[in-house]
Amino acid sequence: MNPGMRRRAPVIGASVLAAAVLALAGCGRGGDKPTEEQTNKLIEPVAKIELGAAPAAAPAAAPAATPADATAAAAPAPAAADGKAVYDSVCIACHAAGVAGAPKFGDKAAWAPRLPAGIDGLAKSVLTGKNAMPPKGGNPALSDAQIRAAVEYMVAQVK
Ligand code: HEC
Repeated sequence: MNPGMRRRAPVIGASVLAAAVLALAGCGRGGDKPTEEQTNKLIEPVAKIELGAAPAAAPAAAPAATPADATAAAAPAPAAADGKAVYDSVCIACHAAGVAGAPKFGDKAAWAPRLPAGIDGLAKSVLTGKNAMPPKGGNPALSDAQIRAAVEYMVAQVK
């Protein structure tokens, strides 16, 4: 290699770089507003490869994790969510503050004398009403199961 070539190499490198930049700039200018369709076409091969690679890359992890997560999340959710939802929409009106002698939510002392009745006994009180508490807490649309779930939810806070 002679000194002349050595001096030239960076120049060539720079022009190649410049050409690439110009080409990219031109590309950017030409495709200023590519339609969604064009964009999809341009990225299509990449997207296909990624879609194809995903199931192949995690065949063991995906099926194993998904059902486990689903059952873990689904199993305790219905009862808890239902009872909480009923409590939050109906029972909370009196039981949050302890209106009219209602045993306050989360107040262990207020609930202690009532707990021996058990979920069945307490749910029955709610279904039929008790003193200042109207039947079904005042919402006849609630099912027995919803009442029971709400009672279970409330009792779970004071156990
Ligand atoms: C209008 C106010 C009010 C609403 C709404 C209400 N409660 Fe009550 N609740 C009371 C009062 C007052 C008592 C206390 C009754 C008594 O022992 O004199 C009570 C008592 C209870 C008891 C104890 C019953 C017993 O036998 O000791 C449970 C359980 C209960 N409520 C659950 C619920 C549930 C579940 C809801 C919602 C579906 C609800 N309450 C809605 C006022 C209310």
